Amino acid sequence: MRSPGALMGAAALAALVAGLGAGAPARAAPPASRVGFDAHSFTIDGKRLYIWSGEFHPYRLPSPDLWPDIFQKMKAAGFNAASIYFSWGYHSAAPGHYDFTGIRDMDRLLDAARDAGIYIIARPGPYINAEVDSGGFPLWFTTRPLANRSPDPAYLAAADEWLTQIDRIIARHQIDGGRGTVIAYQVENEYYKGSDQGRAYMQHLKAKARADGISVPLVGNHNGTFVDGVGAMQVSGWDHYPQGFDCSTPEKWNAAPDMADEHGAGQPIFAAEYQGGAFDPWGGPGYGACAKLINDRFANVFYKQNIAAGATAQNFYMVYGGTSWGWQAIPQNYTSYDYGAAITEGRQFDPKYYEMKRIGYMLAASAPLLSASAATPARVDDPAVIDVVRRDAASGSEYHLLRHGDTTAATPASVHIALALKDGRYPRVPQAPGTAITLDGREAKLLAADTDLAGQHLVYSTSELMTADRIGERDVVLLHGRPGSPGETVLRFARRPEVTVIAGAATLQWEKKRDLRINYSHDGLIRLSISGGGRPPLLLLIADTPSTEQVWRAETGTGPVLLLGAPLLRQAVLSGDTLALTGDGAAQEARAELFAPPAARLRWNGAAVTTAPAPDGGLAFTVPARPRLVLPALGPWERRAEAPEIDPDFPDQTWQEARLRSSASITKPGSLPVLFADDYGFHTGNTWYRGHFRNDAGHVPPTGIRLKVISGGKGGAYSAWLNGRFLGSVTGGEDGAFGFPQAALRRGDNVLSVLTVDMGHEEDYDSKGENRTARGIVSAVPLGAEADAIGWRIQGRRGGDGATDALRGPYNEGGLFGEREGWHLGKGGDAGWHETRLASNDDKPGVSWYRTTVRLDLPRGADASLGLRIADPPGRHYRAILFVNGWQFGHYVSDLGPQHDFPVPAGILDPHGPNRISVAVWKTDASPGGLGAVSLIDYAAMPAR
Ligand code: GAL
Repeated sequence: MRSPGALMGAAALAALVAGLGAGAPARAAPPASRVGFDAHSFTIDGKRLYIWSGEFHPYRLPSPDLWPDIFQKMKAAGFNAASIYFSWGYHSAAPGHYDFTGIRDMDRLLDAARDAGIYIIARPGPYINAEVDSGGFPLWFTTRPLANRSPDPAYLAAADEWLTQIDRIIARHQIDGGRGTVIAYQVENEYYKGSDQGRAYMQHLKAKARADGISVPLVGNHNGTFVDGVGAMQVSGWDHYPQGFDCSTPEKWNAAPDMADEHGAGQPIFAAEYQGGAFDPWGGPGYGACAKLINDRFANVFYKQNIAAGATAQNFYMVYGGTSWGWQAIPQNYTSYDYGAAITEGRQFDPKYYEMKRIGYMLAASAPLLSASAATPARVDDPAVIDVVRRDAASGSEYHLLRHGDTTAATPASVHIALALKDGRYPRVPQAPGTAITLDGREAKLLAADTDLAGQHLVYSTSELMTADRIGERDVVLLHGRPGSPGETVLRFARRPEVTVIAGAATLQWEKKRDLRINYSHDGLIRLSISGGGRPPLLLLIADTPSTEQVWRAETGTGPVLLLGAPLLRQAVLSGDTLALTGDGAAQEARAELFAPPAARLRWNGAAVTTAPAPDGGLAFTVPARPRLVLPALGPWERRAEAPEIDPDFPDQTWQEARLRSSASITKPGSLPVLFADDYGFHTGNTWYRGHFRNDAGHVPPTGIRLKVISGGKGGAYSAWLNGRFLGSVTGGEDGAFGFPQAALRRGDNVLSVLTVDMGHEEDYDSKGENRTARGIVSAVPLGAEADAIGWRIQGRRGGDGATDALRGPYNEGGLFGEREGWHLGKGGDAGWHETRLASNDDKPGVSWYRTTVRLDLPRGADASLGLRIADPPGRHYRAILFVNGWQFGHYVSDLGPQHDFPVPAGILDPHGPNRISVAVWKTDASPGGLGAVSLIDYAAMPAR
């Protein structure tokens, strides 16, 4: 085998990198764009923007009708941007073939983002990593001897083929004269090769993007590699995963990085990927643990620390993880890519969602922060606590981050700080005797001071700011703090205002600086009405943290609305005198209150609602409960025996004969011929091997066989049979040796059947061609016979290379007999299916299928998030592949786990019709067992994480 470095002729490389060294222009002038940037922030049309972004992968939610749901939920939490990987392999089943239809319709995706008011950071790779098969390289790359992620002309030709396709779509959705909201384009992904070769590669990708009409800033997440010089990004970004990826110790807490110096000259600080969760391996502790490891406290401390360090663009990986459906997962990971993210795989809210919302809202209300610089910290009277300050010179606005100096500290603290503001000196804040600024363990507070909030002036508050808006004739300002914690807010007026405490308890003090000082303990929602102080009337809302969860802000186009008391406000549209809100109800109907520009009529999800004036001037109305879902039990079930390949007389003449003597794989064959599944065009799921050997006068039969099979990762397995007799399985490993029982041998042709599985191809993080690590049998050594005593035939996914289900794409199925016959698609007739009960009680190793059809008739308009659950009696050893209406939505390994619940999005599941559920079960031993009980689950009705 040739090493990747040798693939490109020295002369060709020299030509490519020539002129890129000393003296060559490092940067061509970028094209004009509506998106700009300076050392403080990105801008759009010259206006500064805090980019508060979340990562979302459309290939992990193959239901275009639900894309708006994710974008709306992001927008509702104050996100204004989404970062999107486009996965090359998802669109390309074969060289030269690209599919952007149906679930792959990226125009539709980008339109959905635009319609929800979400900007896009486009990340087309060509390599994306992302815990997706081959890091996003197409399956057909597994047999190409390319020097991945390098200036190898053959690799670049392939990459350009993809980029031409995806760039065309991205370009037409640019904010620059396009129809969409793309504001940035990431070149490659975490590419760290600053060598001449690496720079030539990056330079090529940049030039390609420009040639394809990309005019928005080219950005990177290369952690300082392409900050300047050849191949430099316009804006460099940094990746941080401070908590790591081991979710088995969810209480662990690492130090927060300081991003202050992580930027190029004249560039803003951009966290291109900041940890928003973690992936979980086969046998791992589950995504509940990952959500704990990267929890709301983590968001509270780390994301605010980034703000205080000067980051004005943060993208959280992931905000919605979704599902690595089909065979898209890498070998290390199971089907769910929930990621412990803010929006769960079942599209519900993790507590972190609300924390990210609080911060996102605060940023939207803190414009001066975008031009602020690091300033001298305030004096804090507890050495364990530090102040990290940003100050905007033009306005004098200050933002003080109070946190433990040691961000891992879990001990509470009570402090006072000395503020020297344009508004005056406050040597001890809070001023009220007997109170303090309290920090819980693992809590940071970002406190605004000396700043305008709508028409008001805030001197300081020890509560954190969430929203500040002019709504109709008055200002509405919302502050918050932990339940029971003390708060002090000081507002400046021209003269003493009139204050009415409408709800909750607060004490008031009018002070000589014309300060109104308000003291309180955060408890529910305190409401004060303030007027007549020489400023517009003000409704001051002071919430405890839980009360902020049901606060929603949305833009109508003619001013914002604020809604209190609903689980979700998706959109608010004011047209004529009608204000139309769309949102979600709770399990029970709820009393909500709305602050909105004047409108004569209010509609909620299309229906007129009656409103009543509330004491604080809002409009009270009833949010109807969400429709109740009653899910049917699944059944009756039918079972059909499978795996005729085990039978020695099974006709395999149409299977491919293994004849290859060499391979493009980076794995060295342990025996010949090469038996790697990919080399015969079988890239996904199960592949069968049938080894024939003779037992007659001229041939000594082997006494056994030594096999090495690479499935990928510890979820792998293989099973072997001789002439229909089970020899055994290897689970979680590669090496196996099987003796051939004399009694199992027969005269003439003998058949060894081996069932293997490809758990996904490796990523190629280090550009070593690791996606070309072999899958399937890599070594087959007959014992007691000639090395070539066994002749092999191979069969995997029907049609092999390039053949694809046009609707579902290249990753959906593998090569089990039932898959080849289309049982999951409802083909193959009814013969052989027999009614059965679950949990099954089967003791035969091998493959069998189970099926049932469930008719759903869920209420129209209900956003049902359903899934399938497998519950097992203990001690079972089997693997299951779950299909719903032909779509593979789960890969289950009973004795490894941890995944038992498999969300199936509406669109795959039909909420208003029949649904065919097919489960292929591979029993790896002879102990009693088989498929456990399978039921439908409703994610909205499950306990919140
Ligand atoms: C990053 C990478 C992502 C993803 C992430 C871990 O380094 O850019 O694609 O792999 O790590 O989930």
